[in-house]
Amino acid sequence: MPFNGGSQIRVWIPLVIPSRSSDHVPPVPDKTHHDQLAQTRTGYDQWAPVYDCDANPLQALEQPRVRALLGDVRNQRILDMGCGTGRHALWLATQGAQVTAIDFSQGMLDQARNKQGADAVTWQVHDLHEPLPFDDNTFDTVVSGLVLEHIRNLDLFFSEAKRVLIPKNKSGGESGGESADESGGGGDGQLVVSAMHPALFLRGTQARFTDPTTGQLITPGSLPHSISDFLNAALKANLHLTHISEHQPDQFFANQFPRAEKYIGWPMLVVMGFEKQNR
Ligand SMILES: C[S@@+](CC[C@H](N)C(=O)[O-])C[C@H]1O[C@@H](n2cnc3c(N)ncnc32)[C@H](O)[C@@H]1O
Repeated sequence: MPFNGGSQIRVWIPLVIPSRSSDHVPPVPDKTHHDQLAQTRTGYDQWAPVYDCDANPLQALEQPRVRALLGDVRNQRILDMGCGTGRHALWLATQGAQVTAIDFSQGMLDQARNKQGADAVTWQVHDLHEPLPFDDNTFDTVVSGLVLEHIRNLDLFFSEAKRVLIPKNKSGGESGGESADESGGGGDGQLVVSAMHPALFLRGTQARFTDPTTGQLITPGSLPHSISDFLNAALKANLHLTHISEHQPDQFFANQFPRAEKYIGWPMLVVMGFEKQNR
């Protein structure tokens, strides 16, 4: 997906909360955790066949930022948490990474598996509200794109991401991590996470799509986390914050992704980088 625009926000203070826009979607009612999971999984199963076809401005804003933060991924073992149709996982594989990609929507995974290059990735069904099915210190890098709004247990998400990461610059034999020992080199210890900016909830916006066959508006269900919720969960997991940036579309970007027009100057995206340090 080409990217040619969008700007980074330096300071954002919500002085005025605007009135609800016409596309306002009501917030998720107080569902049980089980009901919420079912809504999210079913919603993405329904979205899967057209997920890649709707010129999603959030993905376009996010992709170059996440790629830049990931840097050189050659020969890295990378976990993609909530991989969807494989946007990040497939690209990472083309860059020479050894990628494992997990998601709980069979529909999204089916789309991913049918794409060119999918054989290079290990795809796995997994609910991120359960502990990850991997040993400690397995991956050099963990990435997760646009998933956090669906995750109720942020503490588990961040602590599990940290657990499976090989600490930064860990060399063989220091603390007994299997994979680090085998690689003989230093781990990257990097977690890169992007999320729909919580400020979008102030506009009544959440993940949604219109089913082209029925015309029905489908909402997989989003939780109105704040940025401090993300950071506190990461801090609790003892991850070290290395990067945080907030991004808004500008006119140039909106010319390419017209759905972003109404958000010009409004934060749509937050990107965070963390390290698991070797201490
Ligand atoms: C907005 S999509 C993003 C997909 C992909 N990461 C990307 O950026 O293109 C969110 C994804 O998170 C997945 N997801 C949501 N809740 C999940 C959970 N509890 N366990 C695993 N995957 C989940 C959905 O199935 C969906 O594929």
